[in-house]
Amino acid sequence: MQPPILLTDEQMQQYIVDGYLVFRPSVPDDLHGIIYEKLNRIIDNEVNPGNNVLPRVPEMRHILNCPEVRGALISVLGPDYLEHPHRFCHPLKPVEEVPSPKEREERLHKNCHQDGYTPLGHPRHHRSRYARIMYYPQDSPEEIGPTHVIPGTQYNTGLSDEDRERAMPVAGEAGTVSLTHFDIGHAAGVSQLKRHRHMIKFIYVRASEPTEPTWASADTTWRKPTSIKSAHDLDHVWSHCWDWSCGKRDRYESLKASGPDPSDALDTLIENLKPSVDLETQLSSITKIATHSERAAPAVDSLVRLLDDNGHKALRVASIYALGAIGEPAIDALVDALRQAGQREASNDPPSPWSEGAILMNDTAHALAAVGPAAISSLVTLLEQSEHEWTRINAAFALGELDSHATEAVPALVDCLSDGSHRVVRTVVDALGNIRSSVPIEPVARMLSVDRSGWDTDELHRWWRPVDQIHTSAATLFAKWGTDATVVETELTTALDDPCGHVGSFALNALQRLGTPTADRAALDFLMSQRWDASIDHERLF
Ligand SMILES: [Fe+2]
Repeated sequence: MQPPILLTDEQMQQYIVDGYLVFRPSVPDDLHGIIYEKLNRIIDNEVNPGNNVLPRVPEMRHILNCPEVRGALISVLGPDYLEHPHRFCHPLKPVEEVPSPKEREERLHKNCHQDGYTPLGHPRHHRSRYARIMYYPQDSPEEIGPTHVIPGTQYNTGLSDEDRERAMPVAGEAGTVSLTHFDIGHAAGVSQLKRHRHMIKFIYVRASEPTEPTWASADTTWRKPTSIKSAHDLDHVWSHCWDWSCGKRDRYESLKASGPDPSDALDTLIENLKPSVDLETQLSSITKIATHSERAAPAVDSLVRLLDDNGHKALRVASIYALGAIGEPAIDALVDALRQAGQREASNDPPSPWSEGAILMNDTAHALAAVGPAAISSLVTLLEQSEHEWTRINAAFALGELDSHATEAVPALVDCLSDGSHRVVRTVVDALGNIRSSVPIEPVARMLSVDRSGWDTDELHRWWRPVDQIHTSAATLFAKWGTDATVVETELTTALDDPCGHVGSFALNALQRLGTPTADRAALDFLMSQRWDASIDHERLF
């Protein structure tokens, strides 16, 4: 295998800002035609193979293994990234009647969305933890309806009409690949052509927290790209995500290095947060407030008021990371707001921001995670003492966002594995997977086969049940941990037969990473029995 081609600092900065990059894999040109023809036959004659599209068209592995795709994934997710079992071919069939420009525009707007997670919901996230590869095996000019992206919307909770107006086509020749943040807004284009169009997506997951840049880094200083497609300037949000990706322990190092402009009076900046002030002035004032760090404590109440449903989506994310930059003086107000959010959701089952497509965690949880280690003891108190499920879920999520910084929260999180709420347990398993350090294996291993009242009978989404997601989350955790999971080899081998295919897929990955002869044998035995003969189709069964 050729060595991966890693992203440059500039490409990483562009990815953090706009949420996507486009490139062409260096594979033989005729490969795309072979894949295209095969997909045409499948889409015309068979049921869409769904997650099985890769074994159905295994030639696509050459795209996924090429130096450009591997290099891009290593750059944004780290060298030990995991392949998610969800993949999908999104086909557009040849059109019979060309839609009018007005109809095309309306359909494109309607198609705009952020993806749901699978098998069940997972929190939307700002940092680079999930990424998507989109591949076109055919020439994809705008007329064939390539996927559109909405730059910068990976930090959004939902899409506005203003966002939908900005959807832009990722057009290109056969073989074009785009790398996108999982949560970016996007849309299927509308074809005007009498030939097939396919977009095949593949999902990847970060396995471990960044401790150093994993791209071809020459300089870890944050630099705003010269050309930005995102609608709003969120410099302090981007520099925070950059510092996290660089593995800096202080995720505001870049912001502090630039420091506040002495000519900006804090009082005036706070005054600018009033709803009557125009959006761009509010946003630039928030960025300037963030540069004042803890000295901007008087801005806390005004910023907290902009969180959650009250503000414009860009104001919300700007406020989250300004509160994070203020740090300790923001903690009490954020904790209070999170308590109140739990109280408001107490009579909703599930809490209203919890969807089994994607979970919209409270803005206060993102802000407490941005504050960093200073917020840990308050988050642990919420986790241990709050009677409200939604508050406990958000506290667990925020702790998980701190990765190994939150090691001291491990005992409290482990206690929550006995919670009766599958939503709490799912969030806690994810958090422990991120924290990794000092997590006892045995209570987490029990989550590979756990079952509690209602968890195996309540179908939540696409006929998946709570146990399916909890077992998947536990198997994912062990796949992330690599050789740290050696003592659970037997449980992982048993998990290969879980009725939910996602569990077996992650357990297989976990076994593969253990590297023991017995784990290798179990993994290979499973794979050999699952081996798919891609030369068989609906007309030729043997
Ligand atoms: Fe989608």
